[in-house]
Amino acid sequence: MSIIQTVQALNIWLDNHERSRKSLGFVPTMGYLHEGHLSLIREAKANNDLVIVSIFVNPTQFAPGEDFDKYPRNLERDYELSRAAGADVVFHPEVDEVYPDGAATQVEVTGALTQTLCGLSRPTHFKGVTTVVNILLNMVRPNQVYFGQKDAQQALIIKKMIRDLYMQVKLNICPIVREADGLAMSSRNVYLNPEERRQALILYRSIQKGEELVHQGVTDVREVIQAVQEEITKAPLAVIDYIEILEAKTLESIDTINDEVLLAVAVKFGKTRLIDNKLIKPQEGQLCF
Ligand code: PAF
Repeated sequence: MSIIQTVQALNIWLDNHERSRKSLGFVPTMGYLHEGHLSLIREAKANNDLVIVSIFVNPTQFAPGEDFDKYPRNLERDYELSRAAGADVVFHPEVDEVYPDGAATQVEVTGALTQTLCGLSRPTHFKGVTTVVNILLNMVRPNQVYFGQKDAQQALIIKKMIRDLYMQVKLNICPIVREADGLAMSSRNVYLNPEERRQALILYRSIQKGEELVHQGVTDVREVIQAVQEEITKAPLAVIDYIEILEAKTLESIDTINDEVLLAVAVKFGKTRLIDNKLIKPQEGQLCF
């Protein structure tokens, strides 16, 4: 596996590996890899000749006061894990390589997709994400790119950007990977102290509760949200940012669950903000109108 820091070196590597005759999968990450990232790398490896993983903690998607400086980093471990999962290259550019002097172009998806959920509490976040994903895709020029369903809103926004800009890349959104006890894997889980980690299990439990209600035939969004909220407040350290049930593809608000929805939650434990979600369909045979 090669470790590459510049676009020039990346292009030389790709030429040497007969890029024009091979398929290329790309997994963009901010590093501190966990099983969720590794599942993306393995999926990319299973479906492409070559796999590039990028590790870049993107400053433009963090607002002042967020955790950019203390975002967990462990490059040596990430290289080893990437290699073991089947990556051919770890692309680890410096900030100046991604945003060279005078970089003044931003890519923004507007509308409902970005103006809900995390877009409300982190208003500049997704512009930073779409800008860097655009830059990285232009640098790597893969056939396929892989993201996790854990960041459901991010995945939908990137899908929209790829479609709107006719970007020549196939998007793959892969399932959430959870710890054995149900907590969705996230690089930020490392911030949790043991008590916060224990209470954070309430996220997945509350989502399961919501899903259970929908499967029992409850279609009133407010009723399901109320039940999820009651579940989360059983954890005394939990501070709710949002609990939402939205139309699954557009993230538009709904009152009644007639079709597939995204149940999404963001909850703070101490200084750590965690997100989780589930796509939920009313069960077959359920009365929908
Ligand atoms: O999901 C992430 O890790 C980041 O938002 C991404 C897509 C790598 C862009 O920096």
